[in-house]
Amino acid sequence: KISNLNSKQIDLGDYKHYMQKEIFEQPQAIRDTLESRITKDTVSLSAFGHNAETIFTNIKHIQIIACGTSYNAGLVAKYWLEDIAKVPTNIEVASEYRYRNPVVLNNTLLVTISQSGETTDTLEALKSVKQHHNNIHTLTICNCAESFLTRESELTLLTHAGPEISVASTKAFTTQLVSLALLSVAIGKCHKQVDKKQETAIVDGLNRLPGLIKKTLEQESQIIELAQSFKNKFNAIFLGRGTMHAIAMEGALKLKEISYIHSEAFPAGELKHGPIALIDQDTPVIAIAPNDQLLDKLKSNLQEVKSRGSQMIVFEDEMSNVTPMQNMTVMSITHNLGIITAPIIFTIPLQLLSYHVALIKGTNVDKPRNLAKSVTVE
Ligand code: G6P
Repeated sequence: KISNLNSKQIDLGDYKHYMQKEIFEQPQAIRDTLESRITKDTVSLSAFGHNAETIFTNIKHIQIIACGTSYNAGLVAKYWLEDIAKVPTNIEVASEYRYRNPVVLNNTLLVTISQSGETTDTLEALKSVKQHHNNIHTLTICNCAESFLTRESELTLLTHAGPEISVASTKAFTTQLVSLALLSVAIGKCHKQVDKKQETAIVDGLNRLPGLIKKTLEQESQIIELAQSFKNKFNAIFLGRGTMHAIAMEGALKLKEISYIHSEAFPAGELKHGPIALIDQDTPVIAIAPNDQLLDKLKSNLQEVKSRGSQMIVFEDEMSNVTPMQNMTVMSITHNLGIITAPIIFTIPLQLLSYHVALIKGTNVDKPRNLAKSVTVE
């Protein structure tokens, strides 16, 4: 069973930490996750289970439930499922959902996302919905074939990330995103919202991901330099809009988990409603600037931050043309990416940044204090 493998059974090779190894394994993990789920221009429906097509055609709502990093993957998927498949989608952390009395509409697809497939809150939330509601369907996106979640779910799509040892999740997250992209297209096709042209374009983007990630990983030395400025920092703020808000959340989670720097993510548009009060010279701001329809709004948010004297790091698309200002480092990560590929690629520099900040802080990277790889207790 994958989740029972431990560090002694998996060789570190030339890497110093499992987290570093797992970050660099992402191109292969994504290739493995895509294998047999897509052909040249088609997303397979049967990859989700033999009756997936009927289930996907009948569902009218989607409810996603997850914890931690898996929850952040679900946040990205909410945007995709509504944008691509046009199915109303909600997401909630499992530890809240399971203890309240949520309204679950008929023909809801309950999607659980989990690396381990054993997280108690996620599993109990799923069991409770199944117990109280008949006219719903369940699907899990999981990294462990033989797990509680796969056993309890009608449909399964396994992320083929391979064993993940580091407590801080990296390749499980990006393969979850790839799987959720496949789900968005699959449901979109069943609902006649995705035509062949769009499907081909998305499949093409997914196929390019391993190569794009490899190129992004080659920028590690620039990120090592950026990490130096976090040496004496105690707080950091991550900003993004749209799917990049979810990626900012994941960036902040990674940084706090392994470097113990207090990190928070905000939707950039919310800055002026409170978070801007936190910004000062000692609080670095990390922003993600894809070339999308919200770019100009993000640029004005950066101006607001600049006037508070904070150090800024902007990860941009080459086409975004963010003009560097005083105290601002702009790093071009990629070139003209789409709605699916962009969030996955912008995850990579944030993973590398937290890894290198943790090295500078001298923390236990693979086993950060107080955290467990899978949480099977209340
Ligand atoms: C723990 C881990 C996190 C993980 C979360 C959910 O808190 O430390 O890295 O994201 O559990 O785990 P799951 O296995 O359900 O994805």
